[in-house]
Amino acid sequence: MSIHIGAKKGEIAPTVLIPGDPMRAKHFAETLLQDAACFNQVRGMLGYTGSYNGKAVSIMGSGMGMPTLSIYINELVNEYDVKTLIRVGTCGALQPYLKVGDIVIPMSSSTNSGINRLRFNGMDYAPTASFNLLMKAYEAARQRTERVFVGGMFASDLFYQDDPEWWKIWAEYGALVCEMETSALYTLAAKFKVDALSILTVSDSLVTGESSSAEQREKDFPIMAEIALDIAT
Ligand code: HPA
Repeated sequence: MSIHIGAKKGEIAPTVLIPGDPMRAKHFAETLLQDAACFNQVRGMLGYTGSYNGKAVSIMGSGMGMPTLSIYINELVNEYDVKTLIRVGTCGALQPYLKVGDIVIPMSSSTNSGINRLRFNGMDYAPTASFNLLMKAYEAARQRTERVFVGGMFASDLFYQDDPEWWKIWAEYGALVCEMETSALYTLAAKFKVDALSILTVSDSLVTGESSSAEQREKDFPIMAEIALDIAT
């Protein structure tokens, strides 16, 4: 057991998919893995290990936001020897051509988070994806859909911001989407010398106000997990 994860050593696979939502972890484990067994229920942050194409893989929630995700990444890597972390989550589109259901694979993630300013004494760090995973994920994604986009993104500490136009400066400088986790994931992966990638599905658009229906979530959201499992195994 680590402080926040109830698994015994060896119960978590070297590759872990990390959706933000623990119920999505449960759903992906039950629908996509064989023989999935739950290894964590501490704080409701459900985690499962099973197999895909005969290879062990785990899926565990990370929670929302960079502080919570950082706790789990630290413990997964340092206490359970995890080597590959693939976030499968949702994001808001910042570009007009992105539609709900599109797959976005961020190469890099800008942020308004104070975490890396603290870490790097006020200087700015450029959190970057694992090129190896990114290359494989792009190939795997193209086998499943035409609608896959690679580029920069923006990770925010705030979901609800005072200024409704806050995102426009990031859109102007080419960020494809926003969410709340990837800057911390890529930073910690670099620090711990493990591989990390986010594979995101557009769930809403800040440009058009479009948001996803229950039906779209059911149909579109498994694709990101299938791409992650393709490259994990
Ligand atoms: N903002 C931040 N995080 C998100 C969003 C958003 O609009 N959509 C999905 N995750």
